[in-house]
Amino acid sequence: MCGIFGCVLHDGREAAPLIHAALKRLEYRGYDSVGEVTISNGTLTVKKDSGRLDEVHAKYNLDDLLGPVGVGHTRWATHGRPVKENSHPLVDCKSRIAVVHNGIIENYLDLKRELETKGHRFASRTDTEVVPHMVEEYLSHGLSLEEAFRKTINRLEGAYSIVLTSLEKPKTILCARQESPLVLGLGDGEYYCASDIAAFLPLTRKALILEEGEMAILDPDGIRILKAKNGVAVKRDAITVTWDPESAKKQGYRHFMLKEIHEQVHTIRDAMRTHEIYYDLLASKLMQSEKVFIVACGTSYHAGLVGGQALMKLAGMNVRVVVASEFSDEALDLVDSKTAILAVSQSGETMDTLNAVRDAKAKGASIVSVTNVLGSTLMRLSDVYIGQNSGPEIGVAATKTFTSQVTVLLRLAIAIGRKKGEVSSKEISELEEALHRTPALIQNLLNTRVEDVKKIAESCSGASSICFLGRGVSVPTSLEGRLKLLELSYIPAIAYPAGESKHGFIALIEEGFPTVFVAPRDETHKKIIGNIMEMKARGARIISIIEEGDEEVRNLSDDVIEIPESLPSLATPVVYVVPLQLLAYYMSVILGHDPDYPRNLAKSVTVE
Ligand code: F6R
Repeated sequence: MCGIFGCVLHDGREAAPLIHAALKRLEYRGYDSVGEVTISNGTLTVKKDSGRLDEVHAKYNLDDLLGPVGVGHTRWATHGRPVKENSHPLVDCKSRIAVVHNGIIENYLDLKRELETKGHRFASRTDTEVVPHMVEEYLSHGLSLEEAFRKTINRLEGAYSIVLTSLEKPKTILCARQESPLVLGLGDGEYYCASDIAAFLPLTRKALILEEGEMAILDPDGIRILKAKNGVAVKRDAITVTWDPESAKKQGYRHFMLKEIHEQVHTIRDAMRTHEIYYDLLASKLMQSEKVFIVACGTSYHAGLVGGQALMKLAGMNVRVVVASEFSDEALDLVDSKTAILAVSQSGETMDTLNAVRDAKAKGASIVSVTNVLGSTLMRLSDVYIGQNSGPEIGVAATKTFTSQVTVLLRLAIAIGRKKGEVSSKEISELEEALHRTPALIQNLLNTRVEDVKKIAESCSGASSICFLGRGVSVPTSLEGRLKLLELSYIPAIAYPAGESKHGFIALIEEGFPTVFVAPRDETHKKIIGNIMEMKARGARIISIIEEGDEEVRNLSDDVIEIPESLPSLATPVVYVVPLQLLAYYMSVILGHDPDYPRNLAKSVTVE
């Protein structure tokens, strides 16, 4: 999730300070590297480096770039580490075309190979760099800049918002979008494009929304929008934005957490986009090892528990999932050079996870990881890593990063399962197909079930405790629901494997005790019905997350939240956790707390 801003200003005005200010407003979208480009007197000048905006500005003075047309970018690395050469803008062989990009170009390796055979030289390890080179290639065939850009866009697969400036037409900016966001701003004879409205809000409140598959041409005469596929012109009316700058950053949502819950529709797709070769690399490290430990903390630990079950079920692997802070005391004696540690950490900086990794590395273990922050300490300690591509998460409570971690771990288990042939290819394909369906399912859930969750949150807001129960892969989902609820509402919450609850927890049950069952219609269904009956018989108030049409559980429940479709068991945590995230969010709001910044918590826990 990078931030982009481009502008075409009146002659005599300087774009650079405006770009700098806009990037400051976009920094929340990504902050591992920064770059700007402007055009003046027939020269295209780029300044860029890794680091946060203020650091890069202190080093290079971003404001003294000259010219009324320019583009800036603040990066959240997905392809290629956060180093200077991978920072945006990226240029063609002759430094005549500069491009910034937000998103993931899935087929970049094929395109890169094709361009290399035609003599193009690549300077970075990014997916983005194929764009300036391909435009350069088409220009050399005699196409106009607009046609060369359009043709290039039509070759790209994946998600992108792309902005291009070029010496071919120094007063023009070209941009296009597919899945990643891009909005256009109409100033007084000056024109802007940006990842979100927050970037140009102090400059104009008049905006044009660029739709999927469209491109736009910004020049001193105005903005033209075209369908990228066939170049047909599109007429679009401007809207007037009423948001204040803070709500513009939250895109109109009341809190970052709610925005991030909604973003899962996109972040899960992005997690699915990582190229197979990374999974193959990670898979072979795990398959070469005799012992595998998954280590993580908090929400990442819950994702690890799902990953552990998937690796056992799909790949027959004997994996132990250990809370990172316990790892060295509990399991270090077993670690040797035939051991692999799969560390899962959103931030890649959690001290407990890093300590476990360092201790295991010192004993010769291989280290593989799943992290959201390329360039993090965990990534640097790892032999192989996979980026989960969630973009920055600002809400302290993890939401979108959990569903992405689970998605990545399931894809890893699928990759190893395929190689080992432990389960039928039909079962594996069904799971893979279900993962592709999860974003649409979550969208459906967010469109239709939020009011149900709000009502439950209202009715539970006076509870002194709440319990979450599930079986099988719904145990980690329940643990995650419990963690979200207690950290945001400060209500002591409990989670158990449902079968274990009768060995002690059941003593707490009295009339009206809210008990949330995560009850997908999978192989655990019959047994969980028994557990629901046990609790109901003792007066518990039953709230169930069920598959739509599950009359058996519905009839036993006081309230239900229905998941619109059936899913293979292992895919259920990705969707069933969403109502639990919403429940925690609304409980926090109803109780007057700030869900973005729960007390005593930090986004990244860098102490032991
Ligand atoms: C809970 C939460 C924490 C983190 C934990 C690990 O909402 O955010 O429990 O999951 O501190 O953080 P990472 O994944 O950065 O290692």
